[in-house]
Amino acid sequence: VEFANHLGKLDESLENPDPLISAPDPQSETRMSNTLPKARDGFTSTFGVLAATLGSAVGLGNIWKFPYLTGENGGAGFLLVYVIATLLVGLPVMISEIMLGRQAKSDAVSGLIKLAPKGQPWWLIAAMGVTAAFLIMSFYSEVAAWVFAYIFKAASGEILSTDPAVTGAAFNSLITDPLQSLLWQWLVLALMGGILLMGVSKGIEAVTKRLMPVLFILLLVIGIRSLTLPGASEGLHFLFSPDFSKVTAGVVLTAMGLAFFKLSIGMGCMMTYGSYFRDDQHIPLTTVRVMCADLFVSMLAGIAIFPAVFAFGFEPTAGPSLLFITIPAVFASIPFGHLFMVLFFVLSAIAATGAMLSILEVPVSVLSERFHMSRRRATLINLLVLGAVGSTCALSNSTLADVQIAGKTFFDLFDFVSSNVLMPLGGIFLCLFVGWVWGFERMKTALTNGGELELPILKPLFFITRYVSPPLILIVMLKGLGLF
Ligand code: PHE
Repeated sequence: VEFANHLGKLDESLENPDPLISAPDPQSETRMSNTLPKARDGFTSTFGVLAATLGSAVGLGNIWKFPYLTGENGGAGFLLVYVIATLLVGLPVMISEIMLGRQAKSDAVSGLIKLAPKGQPWWLIAAMGVTAAFLIMSFYSEVAAWVFAYIFKAASGEILSTDPAVTGAAFNSLITDPLQSLLWQWLVLALMGGILLMGVSKGIEAVTKRLMPVLFILLLVIGIRSLTLPGASEGLHFLFSPDFSKVTAGVVLTAMGLAFFKLSIGMGCMMTYGSYFRDDQHIPLTTVRVMCADLFVSMLAGIAIFPAVFAFGFEPTAGPSLLFITIPAVFASIPFGHLFMVLFFVLSAIAATGAMLSILEVPVSVLSERFHMSRRRATLINLLVLGAVGSTCALSNSTLADVQIAGKTFFDLFDFVSSNVLMPLGGIFLCLFVGWVWGFERMKTALTNGGELELPILKPLFFITRYVSPPLILIVMLKGLGLF
C-alpha cells in the first residue's frame, strides 16, 4: 500500500513538476472542505489541458466539414484563405477567449459579468454563445449520429461497395429514416451526457487524454495508405495548388466561418475551457500548439481523402455527403479497405466526442454555476432540451424536409447561422471587449501569468485584437452575407 501511495505521489509530482503550483493535496482538501467552498473542478496537467482543448478543436470540422468545403470551393485557394483567417482572426480571438476564461474562473456568463465594468452587458456575448452551442450541437450530434451508425455499417460490410450509387442509397436510407436518425442522435447525446456527469477532470480530461493519441495514430495510418495509392498526386495538386478564380466573398465568409468553427471560438467554449486552465499555463503557446495541431489534422484528413478520391475517379464536390457516400466507395476500392473504413469511422467518432463534450460544457457550466444547479441536473436539463431542439435537425431529411426557412432546412440553417453569423459576431465583441474595455495592461498581466513569462508578441497581438480583427471580421461577414 505504501509503495502504491508512493507511486501515486510520484505520478502527481510528474504531472505537476512545480510544487508551488501543484494541485492541492486531496487530504488537506477534505480537511478544509468544512470551512472553504469546494475547489472548482478543472484540468489537472499540461497534457490534460492540451488534450481537452485540442479535443474540442479537432472534430467533425476537420474530417467532415473541412474536406467537403474544400472540395466544394475549389481546393487550394479555399485552403489558403482558411489558413489566413485562422492566423489573423482565429488566433487572437482564441487567445483572448481562453485568457478571459482563466481570469474569471467561472462559466462564460458569470465570467463576463465578473470581468466587465458594472452594468455593462458584455455577458450577452456569452448568452449568444449558449444559443450558438444549442444550434451547433443540434446538427453536430446528428452528423455524429451518422458517424456512430457508420461504424457498424462499415463493420457489417453493408457500405462496402465501389459504386457510389450503392453507398449513396445506404446513406439515404439512414438519413431519411426518422426513427433511426432520432435514435442514433439520442444515443450519442446520452453517451456525451454520461461522460459529462463524471466532471471536468475525471470526465472530459480523462476521456480526451486517452482518445486523442489514438486519433493521431489512426489518421497517420490512413493518410499513408491514401498517399501510396497510384494516382494520388492529382489529389495533392487539388489540395495544394491554388486557383483563385473560385474565391468569392461568399467563399471567404465560408472560410472564416470554418476558422471559427474549427477553433471552437466566438461562442464561449474556449472561455469555459480557459476557466479550467491552471494558472501556470502558457496561454499563447497552448493556443498556437492547438491551432497547429488542428491544422495538421485537417491537412491529414485532406491528404487521407483527396488523393483517394481522385485516384478512383470520384468527384470532390459531393458536399456534406462526401464523408458518407464517396469515402466508403473509395475505401471499398483499396486493399484492406474494409478494415481501414471501420478505423476511419471509429476515428471520426472519437474526434466528434471531444468536440461535443466541449460544446455541451458551455450550457452545462452556465446552469450549474450561474444557476447553482447540481452538475447532474444541469446535464440532464441540457440533454432534454437538446433532444427536442436537435430532433429538428435529425428530421431535416425526412419528416421535416419540407420545412425550410430562407431555403434551408433546420440542419442547414443552424449550421449556417452558427458558423457564419453567431460565432463571428461573438468574435467581434470579444475582441472589442479585450481591446477597448479590458485594455493592454490587464491583458499583459493575464497572459504573462503576472509577469512570469516573456511575451514579445504581446504588443502586436493587442494591436491586432484592438484594430484589425473586429473590422476584418465585420467586413467579411457583411460582404459574405451580401449586405453590402
Ligand atoms: N471545433 C469543433 C470541430 O471542428 C466544433 C466545435 C465548434 C466545437 C464550436 C466546440 C465549439 O469539429
